[in-house]
Amino acid sequence: MNPVAKSFYVTTPIYYVNDAPHIGHAYTSTAGDVLTRWHRQRGEKVWFLTGVDEHGTKVERAAVQGGVTPQEWVDALVNDSWKPVLETIDAKNDDFIRTTEARHVERVRKFWENVKENGYVYSDSYEGPYCVGCEEFKFPADLVPGTGEFEGSQVCAVHGRPPEELSEDNWFFKLSDFTQPLIDRYEANPNAVRPASAYNEVMSFLRGGLVDISMSRSSVKWGIPLSWDESQVVYVWFDALLNYITAVGYGAEPATTEAELFERVWPVDVHLVGKDILRFHAVYWPAMLMAAGLEPPKQVFAHGWLLVGGEKMSKTKLTGIAPELIIDHFGSDAFRYYFMRAIAFGQDGSFSWEDMSARYTSELANGLGNLVSRATAMVGKYFEGQLPAEGPISHVEKTIHALLTKTVVDANACIDELDFAGAIGQVRTFIEHINGYVTEQEPWVLAKSEETYGALATVLYTVCESLRAIAVLYNPVMPKAMGLMWSNIGAREALGELCDQRVESASTWGQLPAGVRVHKGESLFPRLEDPESI
Ligand code: ME8
Ligand code: MG
Repeated sequence: MNPVAKSFYVTTPIYYVNDAPHIGHAYTSTAGDVLTRWHRQRGEKVWFLTGVDEHGTKVERAAVQGGVTPQEWVDALVNDSWKPVLETIDAKNDDFIRTTEARHVERVRKFWENVKENGYVYSDSYEGPYCVGCEEFKFPADLVPGTGEFEGSQVCAVHGRPPEELSEDNWFFKLSDFTQPLIDRYEANPNAVRPASAYNEVMSFLRGGLVDISMSRSSVKWGIPLSWDESQVVYVWFDALLNYITAVGYGAEPATTEAELFERVWPVDVHLVGKDILRFHAVYWPAMLMAAGLEPPKQVFAHGWLLVGGEKMSKTKLTGIAPELIIDHFGSDAFRYYFMRAIAFGQDGSFSWEDMSARYTSELANGLGNLVSRATAMVGKYFEGQLPAEGPISHVEKTIHALLTKTVVDANACIDELDFAGAIGQVRTFIEHINGYVTEQEPWVLAKSEETYGALATVLYTVCESLRAIAVLYNPVMPKAMGLMWSNIGAREALGELCDQRVESASTWGQLPAGVRVHKGESLFPRLEDPESI
């Protein structure tokens, strides 16, 4: 039998449903969607998973406050907010996992049973601080001096509140056994934790030595009961992390579709996470997998935070901006574009209406949108809406062909590094070059004399063919606008669906056949409504 061909597997964190999503969650999901759309356009098989984390104290308390049962609470939020937001941002995920689903619950129980059989679970008692915001047992080094009402006490560095003091008997995972195996693994493969700042943080944590950690909770009810001790539930993180395997068929019956999926996707190519949850993904999770005899992730990428007033935007602190608020005004394409373009992936950044409006207008409406409407209008006016054949070309067009080849290679390389801003920047440089070309060639002047109609044809063909390539490269970022542009330049009719076009061959010149129908169509990036009206 042939070995199963590997799929490119990407995950987002599964988000807590203590409240509705904000743009921080949409940010990670957008990055995953752009990344996987790009890989699909390389002709790869892809699996993109996202979902929600429904258990634990934080969600349970939110339900109590809301006056409903935890199950009612999560059902309502998942159906009314967490699933719809994926449509709002135009994400094309392959699956959506909820940790209350039977497939997850059963496999989590089985996983921990295996780890216990392998000798990595024992009973003990935990005494120490726990932050419910993080759902995390804290070490003294994780805490910082409090301010304001918490002046004088040590508080969680993320949530700014003192942790709760826990004292309970529970089951422990022998994390300490994995200090050296993890150090060895990461020394041999620095690419497994990115960016470099995250790698360094993980290495210094590992070099400090790992201590064993509770894998179950005896004072929590809302969770998955242990198979060997039903009085306790699996610690919420050691339930949630497992979603990455339970959703893709870990523990499924051999020779089923699900079991085949697991073979095809595991080990995962990239876990996308925010830097708040790096330690769970780059330390605890691979250790759990090793304890179960499974391969650890190939890469964990920790991106930065969207900040509000210099602090992480957060559900717990009620500082979130709903994605719809921005998308209703700018559209999903501009949202995706803005966050991938304006913030270097791996660094913190802030959203501002002013910055987003400015970029929308200069880069999308005036930059690309204007180029498309000028080119399609001129094909309409001078060639009755039929793309002319390319006339003789000069070094000017040859420079464009060479620049396009370089753009594709460089943008593709940026995506390998998860440098979304870099990839977009490459395409933007190309667009600016084409805009400059139109300005210099003055096709409206060439149109004045029959003698220069051949030159006019070359200019308009060159611009439309460049737009064809731009549509392919920008499709992962702005699928709606690029789909529209693809139709307007006659490419759908001639070349088929945009999502089937391969990135690598985008620079092959001359794909749009002469004679295709070109339409001006509606504006790709319409003028914004008055921001006062938002
Ligand atoms: O941590 N900026 O869920 P969570 C950028 N359930 N990204 C942000 C962000 C911000 N201000 N706020 C949230 C959990 N995110 C666990 C995960 S995974 C097995 C379990 C994004 O609801 C970012 O990806 O707190 C961050 O890591 C994640 O949402 C945390 O979501
Ligand atoms: Mg959080």
